[in-house]
Amino acid sequence: MELLGILSPPWWLLLLLLPALLLWAMHRSPWEPHKCPADLTGKTVIVTGANSGIGKCVAMDLARRNARTILACRSQERGQAAVEEIRAATGNPAVVLRLLDTGSLASVRAFASAVLREESRLDVLVNNAGVTGLPFAITSEGLEQTFTINYLGPFLLTNLLLDLLKASTPARVVNVSSFRHSVGTADSAFLTGQRCPGGYDAAYNSTKLMNVLFTAELARRLEGTGVTANALSPGVVSTSIMRHFSWPVRALFSLLRPFMKSAEQGAASTIFCAVSEEAAGITGKYFDSSCRLALPSAAARDAALARKLWEASERLTGLTEQGHPPAPPPAAAGAA
Ligand SMILES: NC(=O)c1ccc[n+]([C@@H]2O[C@H](COP(=O)([O-])OP(=O)(O)OC[C@H]3O[C@@H](n4cnc5c(N)ncnc54)[C@H](OP(=O)(O)O)[C@@H]3O)[C@@H](O)[C@H]2O)c1
Repeated sequence: MELLGILSPPWWLLLLLLPALLLWAMHRSPWEPHKCPADLTGKTVIVTGANSGIGKCVAMDLARRNARTILACRSQERGQAAVEEIRAATGNPAVVLRLLDTGSLASVRAFASAVLREESRLDVLVNNAGVTGLPFAITSEGLEQTFTINYLGPFLLTNLLLDLLKASTPARVVNVSSFRHSVGTADSAFLTGQRCPGGYDAAYNSTKLMNVLFTAELARRLEGTGVTANALSPGVVSTSIMRHFSWPVRALFSLLRPFMKSAEQGAASTIFCAVSEEAAGITGKYFDSSCRLALPSAAARDAALARKLWEASERLTGLTEQGHPPAPPPAAAGAA
């Protein structure tokens, strides 16, 4: 009888209400895009992987702020559908599609050439495109596919667009990472598949660590130019990111969907880094999914590791052969 008393409606209600409140609190962000008045009239932005999930919500928000919004997508069909949806929802006719496959350095170079030829400015570059769950495999360019899509392609793209960003200051580079960077390893031998990271979804985690290391080293090299670079975690977001996993993993992910952030909620930290007044002038940092400055993992703060990864990436993408200016000397050890 006493046990039945404990299980009577008020206790059940409390048990249900507590996790619901917890999730609600986790979904709430102290910074909400719709309350930010930033207007981007006359500015140009690029969002990679903008045809779905977080990237589409980011592009939608920036287009609503009147930016010339370039959706950098690998599929003409999916990209054009997103362009039309965003144009219709925002009334902004300056929403355009350009094809980009971040998993191909040739595609990155072609995309960057077209941007440099046709655009007079670039105010915000959002490196959002990403995949997880692909097999460890080498592309026709001799690079590992997940590492190229998530890290090396965006590394090359950013470097090729740097002069345009510098000519449009104040400008921002925003790199979409993940809280999972903290279990990644940054070994440049992964980039060519010479070594394979061990552990579940280890390639993805490692690319997300590389995103944070890249951001720190980029910010160091850009000091004093008026171009900032920051990385962020969107949180756990209900998108199609898990589509390459086996069906049992996808099924488990589906069960958890109701407890995750929506793509709109997940886009907040990216939009914060891209447009907010609060983030203006901040560089080389990592923001959590609540748009708060956060300390990334110890590996992500290793300045020597960031520099080593940068140099390996420069060699692999051929950037050094193009006579890029030498990097400024590193600051005191451990400053990243
Ligand atoms: N969802 C989460 O919980 C979560 C958590 C932490 C971080 N993130 C990060 O958030 C970013 C966006 O992911 P999402 O959750 O919005 O997933 P999503 O819905 O799958 O979106 C990923 C986007 O990237 C594009 N993409 C993939 N490979 C590409 C390539 N080779 N070249 C160009 N575009 C490519 C996809 O285009 P296609 O349609 O052509 O495939 C798609 O538009 C990723 O960087 C992801 O790592 C997500």
